[in-house]
Amino acid sequence: MVGYLVTGGVGFIGSNFVRHVLNTCDASVTVLDKLTYAGDRRTLDGLDPGRCSLVVGDIADAALVDELVPRHDVVVHFAAESHNDNSLREPWPFVHTNLVGTYTLLEAVRRHDVRFHHISTDEVYGDLELDDPGKFTAATPYNPSSPYSSTKAGSDLLVRAWVRSFGVRATISNCSNNYGPYQHVEKFIPRQITNVIDGVRPRLYGAGANVRDWIHAEDHSSAVLRIIETGRIGATYLIGADGEKDNKSVVELILTLMDRPADAYDHVTDRAGHDLRYAIDASALRDELGWRPAHPDFESGLADTIAWYRDHEDWWRPQKAATEAKYAATGQ
Ligand code: NAD
Ligand code: DAU
Repeated sequence: MVGYLVTGGVGFIGSNFVRHVLNTCDASVTVLDKLTYAGDRRTLDGLDPGRCSLVVGDIADAALVDELVPRHDVVVHFAAESHNDNSLREPWPFVHTNLVGTYTLLEAVRRHDVRFHHISTDEVYGDLELDDPGKFTAATPYNPSSPYSSTKAGSDLLVRAWVRSFGVRATISNCSNNYGPYQHVEKFIPRQITNVIDGVRPRLYGAGANVRDWIHAEDHSSAVLRIIETGRIGATYLIGADGEKDNKSVVELILTLMDRPADAYDHVTDRAGHDLRYAIDASALRDELGWRPAHPDFESGLADTIAWYRDHEDWWRPQKAATEAKYAATGQ
């Protein structure tokens, strides 16, 4: 049985990965999570307590991390401050968790020679022009725009240095925008779905021409597991499912799927430094590791996600008012 230590395993994608591993592998999982505003322990409800346990703590707590890491075979590092808009309001938690936290984990896996997989984002590459035919590859130079993406870029570079200088057995993955159940209501898709449920008009930043490359969180999880099991040590893999959509089209589709007029949304203040377009070339992952997404149909995945938010109001409702109050303060 493989013992996984999953940081940030109460969050949106980390919890999806925990469920994926427990459903598909002979494995046990310890989740290390600080339970920030983004972590709700109810997200792990229903998982077998004999195979999954939660340790509440900070990845930057060196003593705690040093105690936990040697008891596991693999560390999968999802924990992060993850929201661009928050990083524009208050950058420090991003430096603490994304940089100091990642450093703390790297020192522990180095000391105890434990396999490490680092979860990162396509945002480390900056953005592409809307009419650029190209996509991000592992050779694209780093050019992050926000405090969030710059701290993620820094964390990737720490991992690379620990591989090269200290022989740490690590891989890195940079994924595009995820959607699916259990995503915090601060993020674009759940914010608009829950606004419509509340009878509030969706909010589109600027003109809404910005493009994101959407992938279902379950496909992110299956790709990460494939990299952990068969990826080359030291390699970086880009994860994406050819899901490019502009924000305006996504809002219109949400409204249509929720039986509202497609134009029943408002344009609001744009995000500072707003990246124009992300697009992933995942051919290395597909060709080298044989990975394929199981949810390539965005419209049906979005319909399922809408149904999930309709059915799980008890999960998201406690966060909604405080999240909207933060947006109201910046006119968004
Ligand atoms: P999330 O905000 O939903 O969850 C983050 C989790 O980390 C929360 O449970 C939180 O409590 C925990 N956490 C935060 N600081 C911590 C600390 N100091 N110590 C321990 N736990 C801490 O984030 P997410 O959207 O699930 O993203 C997970 C990872 O995937 C992040 O590394 C993010 O950069 C990356 N990523 C996200 C996306 C996306 O579309 N959401 C895409 C690509 C990559
Ligand atoms: O690309 C991967 C990244 O995707 C991850 O690294 C991040 O953790 C994740 O949050 C996400 O970042 P984005 O900034 O792209 O996601 P967000 O959901 O915040 O916004 C998606 C797009 O929608 C973006 O262009 C901004 C826009 N937007 C967002 C909100 C919250 C709106 O138009 N209106 C909104 O209300």
